[in-house]
Amino acid sequence: MAASLGRCLLVSLFALSQWSPNSLVAASPRPHAQPNGESNIVKRAVPYGELIYGCDVPGVIAPAFDDGPWIYTEDILDRMEAANFKATWFINGQNKDNIYKYNATLKRMIALGHQIGSHTWSHKDLATLTPTDTALQMTQLEEALVNILGYMPTYMRPPFLSYNQAVLDVMRDLQYVVIIGDLNTRDWAYQSATEIENAKQLFVTGLDQGFTIVEAHDQEEWTHGVLIDFMIQTVQQRGLVTVPVGACMGQSPSEWYRTARAPPPSGTVGIPLFLCSFFSTSPFFGFSFLSPLTCGIQG
Ligand SMILES: *[C@@H]1O[C@H](CO)[C@@H](O)[C@H](O)[C@H]1NC(C)=O
Repeated sequence: MAASLGRCLLVSLFALSQWSPNSLVAASPRPHAQPNGESNIVKRAVPYGELIYGCDVPGVIAPAFDDGPWIYTEDILDRMEAANFKATWFINGQNKDNIYKYNATLKRMIALGHQIGSHTWSHKDLATLTPTDTALQMTQLEEALVNILGYMPTYMRPPFLSYNQAVLDVMRDLQYVVIIGDLNTRDWAYQSATEIENAKQLFVTGLDQGFTIVEAHDQEEWTHGVLIDFMIQTVQQRGLVTVPVGACMGQSPSEWYRTARAPPPSGTVGIPLFLCSFFSTSPFFGFSFLSPLTCGIQG
């Protein structure tokens, strides 16, 4: 009863948002149309809390950028738009800058057909945090994205690609698809006119090896100035198709996002998101008053 009231309120809360998902949480197997037209094959759901390195769908690559948005992101979007290059953005809430300064950039990413995933609130090494603090790193960004876009992502990539079993357990409980990727340009380590050549070479070598999920960083100067254009040219020369990472896992945009948090583990009480928001900003209740794992709506 309380749960359905909560959902009702939540649904009303998001009724004004532009995007409305077909389903809140997609955990069951779904039918997928096959290239030859057959649609009777049921594909397994993309698992939560398990490491994913490469695309499921053949013939595409998924370039994905971490750590932004920042001052270079809009210009990178311009170049991608001109080339019909589709990307995924694993964004932070508070890294180089505060996410609320980039509302328009995030909305533009969506309008261009890119995907937004979570790279946590403040880019901490999750393997060094308690499960509660790891969850808070996720739910703080969820709250910001609900405020800005009206919904939150189901995909994440851990900062520094760092995780342990406790981190993966939190991602499973919060129902996140965990992307690692297989084509790491290591661009952050190659930030000079000569060294960026190493990142270019890793990109080419990775494509030659058939790798599909890319890692680069839109806030790095030489990635912005050199590597992005090289990636776009290389992809065009090879006739490769770029897609958001959710598409390369065979999921439709309605499955890349959700408007409600995962149902809390059994034995705990779900709290509607807007109440979490109230408590977390109230001077009388710190966010620690609520366990982030229960700060969601009962399924
Ligand atoms: C971004 O969106 C949030 C939520 O709607 C709003 O509070 C904030 O003022 C916006 N920021 C800017 C710079 O417009």
